[in-house]
Amino acid sequence: MFTKKHIVKHILCNKPAYPHKEEGHAFAPSNIALVKYWGKRDDELNLPLTSSFSVTLAHKGSETFLSLHSGETDDIVLNDKKVDLTHPFATKIIQYLDLFREKNSLRFHVNTRSNIPIGAGLASSACGFAALVLALNQLFSWELTNQELSILARLGSGSACRSIFPGFVYWEKGLREDGMDSFGNVCEPTWPNLCIGLCIISALEKPLSSREAMVITKNTSFLYRVWPDKVTKDLVKIKSAIDEKDFTLFGETAENNALTMHATMMASHPPIIYSQPKTLEMMHLIWKLRHQGLPLYFTQDAGPNLKLLFLKEHLHDVLTFFPEIEVIQPFLE
Ligand code: PMV
Repeated sequence: MFTKKHIVKHILCNKPAYPHKEEGHAFAPSNIALVKYWGKRDDELNLPLTSSFSVTLAHKGSETFLSLHSGETDDIVLNDKKVDLTHPFATKIIQYLDLFREKNSLRFHVNTRSNIPIGAGLASSACGFAALVLALNQLFSWELTNQELSILARLGSGSACRSIFPGFVYWEKGLREDGMDSFGNVCEPTWPNLCIGLCIISALEKPLSSREAMVITKNTSFLYRVWPDKVTKDLVKIKSAIDEKDFTLFGETAENNALTMHATMMASHPPIIYSQPKTLEMMHLIWKLRHQGLPLYFTQDAGPNLKLLFLKEHLHDVLTFFPEIEVIQPFLE
């Protein structure tokens, strides 16, 4: 049985244990899964039961400044406000930093700016841990490979391993017990016309973390037994949709994968429902517009918000019906 600390020690053997620089500074974008990761084969190392596939969100994400600090405790600042160290945002960061230091050594000052809401199913933890590991790599001058950075980011939050890379990213589940074969990989080709519209229904923190929800789903949902097979099939479809630039197949696969994930959660004991009435209202509007000929699809993560999927030639029409959305062009920015 491997612990996170084992993996960190293995990756950092022969690397500097003390910073060479005054400050590490990095930005990591958020990513949205098109074929979702839901359920782990190893809860400690965040090793997934299935592979997954995502698109990275260019300029939407977290920027982190990291330096050593002389106080008794770490110092954590989020969007220019000091965070109470008992707040879950701070405890997650502190526990992650503990992996990289011996007890009572090094204290850090972490200053993070995020341009997406935290904990609302917008992959804030993915970009947060990816930015933190990139900043650590800079501060200590470790010169790690992207593969190693991806593995280390995964120890913070599974989906963070995909935020190390731009564009379409495939996270191979891997088979090894130590997870050294479970990391993100860039997937060609690109899709310059692809647009993602962030449709924020609620920016409040979700009441149930994806970590807890995954455990409940895996252990209690009757539908979970068919989920891995569904993912395997959807991974083939999404790759072929991208290769062929078949947007109908792309949208249908992503939307159906997200709905299947939510149906699987809903069949858990206790049931897990992240959608709110407004989420369903938006879904019905999307289906109505699609029926009228607008090629518009959605995906949804562990929160009530929807991410709209469409091509640039339909941007004007989409904005007419969803004027509030923020549009990201992952391959143009
Ligand atoms: O990496 P986590 O623990 O935040 O889980 C991410 C789960 C989903 O966003 C719902 C799916 C995914 O693949 O990103």
